[in-house]
Amino acid sequence: MKQLHCLRLGLTAALAISLASAPSFAQRHLLHEGDESAKDRPWMNAKLSPDERAEMVLKELTLDEKIDLVHGEGMPGWPGKVFPKTYLGNGGAGFVLGVERLGIPMIQISDAAYGVRSSADNGRYSTALPSPIASAASWDPQAACEYGALIGRELRAQGYNMTLGGGTNITREPRNGRTFEYLGEDPILAGTLVGNRIKCEQAQHVIGDIKHYVANDQEAGRNEINVVIGKRALQESDLLAFHIGTEIGNPGAVMCSYNAINGDYACENKYLLTDVLKKAWKFKGFVVSDWGATHSVVKASAAGLDNEEPEDIYYGEPLKKAVQEGKVPVSELDDHVRRVLRSEFASGIVDFPKQRSVVDVEGGLETARQIAEQSIVLLKNDKGVLPLNRAKVRSIAIIGTNADEGMISGGGSAQVDPPGSTAPKWQAHVWFPTSPLKAVRAKAPGVSVKFASGADPAATAALAKESDVAIVFAHQWTSEDMDLPNLSLPDNQDAMIDQVTAANPRTIVVLESGTAVTMPWIDKVSGVLEAWYAGSKGADAVANILFGDVNPSAKLPMTFPRSEADLPHPQRVIPPPGALGKAAVMATGEAKPTFEVHYDEGLKVGYKWYDAEKKPVLFPFGFGLSYTSYSYSNLKIKPGKQTTVTFEVKNTGSRPGAEIAQVYAALPTETGEPPKRLVGWSKVNLQAGESKEVTVNIDAEYLSIFDEASESWKMVPGVYSFMAGGSSQDLPLVQKITLK
Ligand code: BGC
Repeated sequence: MKQLHCLRLGLTAALAISLASAPSFAQRHLLHEGDESAKDRPWMNAKLSPDERAEMVLKELTLDEKIDLVHGEGMPGWPGKVFPKTYLGNGGAGFVLGVERLGIPMIQISDAAYGVRSSADNGRYSTALPSPIASAASWDPQAACEYGALIGRELRAQGYNMTLGGGTNITREPRNGRTFEYLGEDPILAGTLVGNRIKCEQAQHVIGDIKHYVANDQEAGRNEINVVIGKRALQESDLLAFHIGTEIGNPGAVMCSYNAINGDYACENKYLLTDVLKKAWKFKGFVVSDWGATHSVVKASAAGLDNEEPEDIYYGEPLKKAVQEGKVPVSELDDHVRRVLRSEFASGIVDFPKQRSVVDVEGGLETARQIAEQSIVLLKNDKGVLPLNRAKVRSIAIIGTNADEGMISGGGSAQVDPPGSTAPKWQAHVWFPTSPLKAVRAKAPGVSVKFASGADPAATAALAKESDVAIVFAHQWTSEDMDLPNLSLPDNQDAMIDQVTAANPRTIVVLESGTAVTMPWIDKVSGVLEAWYAGSKGADAVANILFGDVNPSAKLPMTFPRSEADLPHPQRVIPPPGALGKAAVMATGEAKPTFEVHYDEGLKVGYKWYDAEKKPVLFPFGFGLSYTSYSYSNLKIKPGKQTTVTFEVKNTGSRPGAEIAQVYAALPTETGEPPKRLVGWSKVNLQAGESKEVTVNIDAEYLSIFDEASESWKMVPGVYSFMAGGSSQDLPLVQKITLK
């Protein structure tokens, strides 16, 4: 600390000496943020557009200041490196220097996939929301907005002004260890939800981010893999999700991914960064590299990478030199800088300087619980075993690893640290202190609720046998930097569930998973709840559903296959011997991927694959049960600029509920599309017996296909079928119409 003080004093002295020359590092950075002298600068006029303001600042900048804005200054703990300026950081994933003489603040960046990362190391507190895949199961743009707003508030409270949340990779490979960080297999669902999340995150004055652009759909060999995929398939799946997300959310940043796509690394891929993102989509923010995903100066800059993170290997001195030598045009550097500045103005981080505050712990827990309640999917409910009837059930067995203490969370850079914990090691299995045992006990006073971890098969079976109901909390941990070998529950949990069901068929399995799981015991259990990684208040949310205080409404945002044999790639694509490490070590702009994945399934992603291949599934996309039932009737289609689909949904059961009513379209056969695609949905709240007319307006784009020859979206005239119902495989309403 003393040393730090001296350093600061030394720099302040240097500031006095060098006023006449170009601004030094100290001049650029040691004035305080929100410095009064900056207030009357013309670019501080909030009535001007972010573009005008960015342009004005750009004109004031020296070459060094421009370079400062296009790279990071290091990430604490980044392997093998000590970064001299980390004392200026906020303890997050990294930071970008500002230009404080001009009132431009530093960008303090944190990971925040389901809550703000690194609380333990920094002595802070963050709420853990249910994982993004869970939030996608709510199909609820408003819930996505609350999700983003909470993260935005907690980032600000902790001194950050940029998030790295916003994971939107489409689930092509459900064994991907980061599936929990994403929003499932459908581009329209994923894009709509991430867009709403980002919109509300940025409303808290943080720069939003959408990632990992693009097709980073597996972790194994992510730095060395080349994804081979046709343009049309890429456009209609992975890219469509990003396009919708960027249109709705206007994120300040898009993070390019580690992998290569069709031969070029994502962070130096001109087609993706410039032709698609910046030109076709008119994205005005900046492209930030994933951490260590930059491989060159000239190629990356020309391709459209604006900011290298977390350090300055390419975009520090080498970029400056390349500009001075004319290898990178000044106009190109200016475009990178302009984009960074624009996002700073557009997100409000200049006009609303960061102000630390105390995280609203109770408010956060309340939001986490509400979102979890909307995210937990009821997959099976034989003979109405659920909701549990407090008047009838006398004894409950709670079974499962740590089910007395907590629920598992997703790892990697998404990891949120639980209260009371020290910083977990990379890929530690972290259980949040939300105890299923305690939550169930609190719901059922007077009922005997006993616990067995499942480690002792005989004792576990005995407890199940003596109890009226057995509830097994089964977990499947996943993380960044790993993929699952298969979709089975680990640690012999399948065998344990078999033993429990043999002892007591009134068994309910609650899954804590980051992706789909296979369920060899499905016919033997009475009930299944998919709780995902349920966040800080997961256990209370599960208990509210188990006892019927909340009626489940969530629906799967991804297919649960019967077995890996039914996946588009039954065998995982793994790096061959010697493939790893090569791409990353070539530091000259010559980096080349060393192995390939071929997404030959093309357009057939997720349910589109199972539909087209006529493969039965365990649980289909869009599926989820309720404690009430719904009927659908009276479908009407009205063509127009948007196609309007109306129908009626009735709650035919005896309790209130919310139905996620889904609309799918089958495109004319000559388009060569898979049998159907989701084109819209509406979450309808209905009292017992109530019916409502539902209207879903469908954009022409959602009915279009990507035409590779003209590089554009086209609606093909012909016969379209519209279908409405409660899941991708339960669509009682169908109507054909000719659209021009
Ligand atoms: C991950 C990103 C993350 C970054 C910073 C990378 O390893 O892929 O998602 O934002 O690290 O922690």
